[in-house]
Amino acid sequence: MKIAVVKESAPGEKRVAATPETVKKFSALGAEIAVERGAGTASSVADGDYEAAGATVADRAGILKDADIILAAQGPDPASLAGAKQGAWLVAILNPFGERARIDAYAAAGIEALAMDFMPRITRAQSMDVLSSQSNLAGYKAVLDAAAEYGRAFPMMMTAAGTVSAARVFVMGVGVAGLQAIATARRLGAQVSATDVRSATREQIQSLGAKPVFVEAVAGIEGEGSGGYAGEMSDEYRKAQAELVSSHIAKQDVVITTALIPGKPAPRLIADAQIATMRPGSVIVDLAVEQGGNVEGAVAGEVIEKHGVKIVGHRNVPSRLAADASALYARNLFNFLSAFWDKEQGKPVLDEEIGDAVRLTQGGKVVNARLNG
Ligand code: NAI
Repeated sequence: MKIAVVKESAPGEKRVAATPETVKKFSALGAEIAVERGAGTASSVADGDYEAAGATVADRAGILKDADIILAAQGPDPASLAGAKQGAWLVAILNPFGERARIDAYAAAGIEALAMDFMPRITRAQSMDVLSSQSNLAGYKAVLDAAAEYGRAFPMMMTAAGTVSAARVFVMGVGVAGLQAIATARRLGAQVSATDVRSATREQIQSLGAKPVFVEAVAGIEGEGSGGYAGEMSDEYRKAQAELVSSHIAKQDVVITTALIPGKPAPRLIADAQIATMRPGSVIVDLAVEQGGNVEGAVAGEVIEKHGVKIVGHRNVPSRLAADASALYARNLFNFLSAFWDKEQGKPVLDEEIGDAVRLTQGGKVVNARLNG
């Protein structure tokens, strides 16, 4: 069983899919690991660290030759996998809805693509859940990015020269990223409020010491779609939410938006007219900017200013904490493959529930129900 770890090629992608720790763990299972030269550099892991952990280091052609499993953070360009074995597994965050042409190309090349971002949200898969591990870091980093752009302090400070008041931070979307954003903003001393469409988040917001801000007037809405994710909201709900946000947002210094709906464009939560009501110098961080954005006017990959308000739209926020993001992601990959390791065959053999959920291509075809449905 040979496992290849590729060097990422997407612009700005600093993560790597294995660390010396996971190399050792895979070796203990009996696998041979080959890491592409320089793969860990942007995550502060030197080639020599991989070699010391028992991996070989080689160029792309060298690692792909005979590889049974190819590990990556993002899906590599299919052309760059020429030379891989028929039926080799590619395990990565593949963005299947956004990169459909690429998935088709993996199928055509005879590669069996497994999307870590399609991992089902079931208890036994929690340690394999890359959306959680990466969103958690993104939520933390979003608050630091906001603090860096904000020309004032977060905590209240009583000084001889007078009092600095605490920043008011509003978190919209309280999933994994939002919860970490609340906790981080609280640790920095901000006054935090938060909202979500899922009523179950109300208690979570309170337990972190933040104030819940919820649409109360619209009856019959729990906001819960399948698998613990949000669904799309009715027009009535959206109108009530917009009114609530308008009155609240004008009093906020920092807004962090994280709202996503799987397989759909991100819901629009903040309109230009609402940005105009915020005090100059305020900051909005749109973590959903790559999925279409929660904030009108946010630009992926840029920090812009509108009505005196900075709108932060960094791409690939987990990669901005590359060393930790890689360490957690690499463990997600190991937890996944090792959970299914068949000792006799010396390779992972997936079960139906998780296998069918993550497998996108097999035998030259796209086989995933979410893509074919
Ligand atoms: P996500 O990244 O899909 O969405 C972020 C948040 O935005 C969610 O809380 C969602 O309800 C909210 N949202 C969507 N539309 C909105 C709107 N119009 N206005 C305001 N908020 C809106 O969600 P994430 O972070 O992936 O977590 C979703 C749920 O899944 C959570 O309850 C989490 O605890 C659960 N989960 C379960 C796991 C497991 O059991 N293995 C693993 C990870 C998460």
